[in-house]
Amino acid sequence: MSAGAGGAGGRAAGAAPSAGASIAARGVSKVFRRGRNEVRALEAVDFDVADGEFVAVLGPSGCGKSTLMRLVGGLVPATTGEIAIAGARVQGPHTDLGIVFQAATLLDWRTVLGNVLLQVELRGLDPAAYEMRAKALLEAVGLGEFTGALPRELSGGMKQRAAIVRALVHDPRILLMDEPFGALDALTREQMRIDLEELWLSSRKTVMFITHSIDEAVLLADRVLVMSPRPGRIERIIPIGLPRPRGLEGRRLEGFAEASDVITEIFLNRGVLHGARGAFSQNLGSRP
Ligand SMILES: Nc1ncnc2c1ncn2[C@@H]1O[C@H](COP(=O)(O)OP(=O)(O)OP(=O)(O)O)[C@@H](O)[C@H]1O
Ligand SMILES: [Mg+2]
Repeated sequence: MSAGAGGAGGRAAGAAPSAGASIAARGVSKVFRRGRNEVRALEAVDFDVADGEFVAVLGPSGCGKSTLMRLVGGLVPATTGEIAIAGARVQGPHTDLGIVFQAATLLDWRTVLGNVLLQVELRGLDPAAYEMRAKALLEAVGLGEFTGALPRELSGGMKQRAAIVRALVHDPRILLMDEPFGALDALTREQMRIDLEELWLSSRKTVMFITHSIDEAVLLADRVLVMSPRPGRIERIIPIGLPRPRGLEGRRLEGFAEASDVITEIFLNRGVLHGARGAFSQNLGSRP
């Protein structure tokens, strides 16, 4: 796996995907057109995700992260370039992956188990054959007593756990997660992050995890793909060599602060973050 670790932009467009790459993107762009207006969401995106690797995609709001995930999942076509999964060009929704969207998107009228098994039904598989696995996964994420509950009876964190189980029930090789913890309170988010790392360590699925959070990216990923503001490009690929499990202690590990600083610096240089500018004290702080 050699995709541009530490270098800008990974490989040149058109280069062959690495052997063993689970996900490969080459020269990918996406333009949305509405009437005469066009939005260039992604431009010249190149990256590989190795089989069993955990990659975080980190970038500012609107830089095209969700679009990139939809392209990888085959839910929308790229305008130019190519995405391949396990060496095969993506031309439509791919069955060997699970997707966790930004919102849990559970069906209100189905129980937790019913929502999880919907994934199986939509794939034309026999739900009865997956019921044991679904229940075991729900148990593993702490929802064992809630298999018969309706989504409205769950907290935000519980809904997101159910959505993660729904994405995993058919045992896909690849898991795409679009800010799965974005709507959660800080404590639940921390716990979900720790649980996700544990789940990944036991399953070693290929994970593409989208986030706004520098901490979350550094604490979870083997590599962080840092994106530029729109049109989104892969600005830098940062390898994260912290030992695992990073768990609760992750922020105290040697190398955590350094990796976070490198990413913060990139966002400072791109104007995504600013240091304190005294704007509030100048404009609001002094009384007449
Ligand atoms: N279906 C669509 N039609 C038109 N424009 C779209 C569509 N989907 C996304 N866009 C535009 O593409 C750009 C990237 O959107 P996207 O949702 O991928 O960003 P994002 O990085 O996921 O943002 P956030 O972090 O806020 O979720 C935005 O300018 C958005 O308005
Ligand atoms: Mg998004």
